[in-house]
Amino acid sequence: MVWKRTISSKTLERAMYASVKVEDKVILIAKVGDKFYGIDAVCSHAKCILGILDQDSLTVKCKCHDAVFDLRTGNMLEPPYVAKDAPKEKLGLKTYQVRDNNGWIEVDV
Ligand code: FES
Repeated sequence: MVWKRTISSKTLERAMYASVKVEDKVILIAKVGDKFYGIDAVCSHAKCILGILDQDSLTVKCKCHDAVFDLRTGNMLEPPYVAKDAPKEKLGLKTYQVRDNNGWIEVDV
């Protein structure tokens, strides 16, 4: 495990989710209830940055073509509306462990 410090816990509490750059990756981190989630923030379809979080379903939607990803698994649940026939399993995203370490949000990369 390689934990990397990102933003303060207070920043995440105010925003609920944020995209952070960690090494060569952009990772969306979210706090829903008392749990943290991390998922690649760059959409696997056409590289837009993800950004519409649904706390109830624990999903995040891409702003460009509405693909929906599961925050817990990275699986694509809804394909992009411009590529309805694309195989969902090949367009999933990597997920990451996230923790609060003394007021700092850390991601295991
Ligand atoms: S770039 Fe994300 S759905 Fe197309």
